[in-house]
Amino acid sequence: MAIDLAVVPVAGQGTRLLPSTKSQPKEMLPVGRKPVVQYVVEELANSGIHRLMFITGPGKASIENHFDTNWELITFLRETGREELLEELDFERQSLEYFYTRQRRQLGLGHAVLCARPLVDDQPFVVALGDSIIGVNAQSDIVARMVERFEAESADVVVAFEEVPSQDVVRYGIASPGGDGQAGDIFELADLVEKPSVDEAPSRLAVAARYVLSPRIFDALEKTEPGKGGEIQLTDAIRSVLADGGRGIGIRLQPDERRFDIGNFGSYFRAFTEFALADPRYGRGLREHLRDLLDGGTS
Ligand code: UTP
Repeated sequence: MAIDLAVVPVAGQGTRLLPSTKSQPKEMLPVGRKPVVQYVVEELANSGIHRLMFITGPGKASIENHFDTNWELITFLRETGREELLEELDFERQSLEYFYTRQRRQLGLGHAVLCARPLVDDQPFVVALGDSIIGVNAQSDIVARMVERFEAESADVVVAFEEVPSQDVVRYGIASPGGDGQAGDIFELADLVEKPSVDEAPSRLAVAARYVLSPRIFDALEKTEPGKGGEIQLTDAIRSVLADGGRGIGIRLQPDERRFDIGNFGSYFRAFTEFALADPRYGRGLREHLRDLLDGGTS
């Protein structure tokens, strides 16, 4: 049976985006017109996902509300003659089933994925980080391609990677490709190295927020000791599956599938600006405004 279940962790505290994230989830911050997590859900729906499990935490109720049908709002728009705005709510009617569970303590991404175990049980599943968009306006089928590879190769782990400049490898989990160490668009994933130095990095391919995992990952997560910052890292559990003989595949994002991670203000500002510039209605005006600002030397 094709994989149709995705786990979307959204329980992190988003401390790097304080004060914006003091009382609202970072996954609900807008990038252009939509909250980040809506792009993630739309991307998954377009890749054949039908069941979606959010791993939520304190202060994340607005995510549940966002994907629920808001009949009061619908009635209000109808009664006030603004039916054209109803199409903005079309995403509510995607053929998705939603499940929610709480990560009671924010013990890291690996721990968040482990919280999905009772629902996922012994099926393979997708993990998509709720704070990362793939491609401008999320026009990417990377998850569908990953699922296809996972099934065709009887893999245990498929990870999406993005090539980053060599000075940036120190910030990411980096792929160690198997065989001759060369990585094409699809390659054997021998290992991952967490935040290597530039000299030690086995490649420039950084883990990019999308995974397909066999249920073997749960036993590995159960055994994973907390790492940096006391957090249980998903990367450590993937490494242990690979070390135990699990089959790993890496897939590169294509140039039009850049990863927009909104985890810090620098990347958030860049993502917002790029999506706003691509807006069919306001993009052109914004471009002129930015040009004027830059020409005026006020940047
Ligand atoms: P990050 O690694 O960016 O962590 O999460 P964070 O805690 O949200 O952010 P900072 O470092 O405090 O600023 C990547 C994704 O994993 C989820 C986050 O919600 C985000 O979507 N996550 C992270 C969890 O679900 N639980 C956790 O314990 C940590």
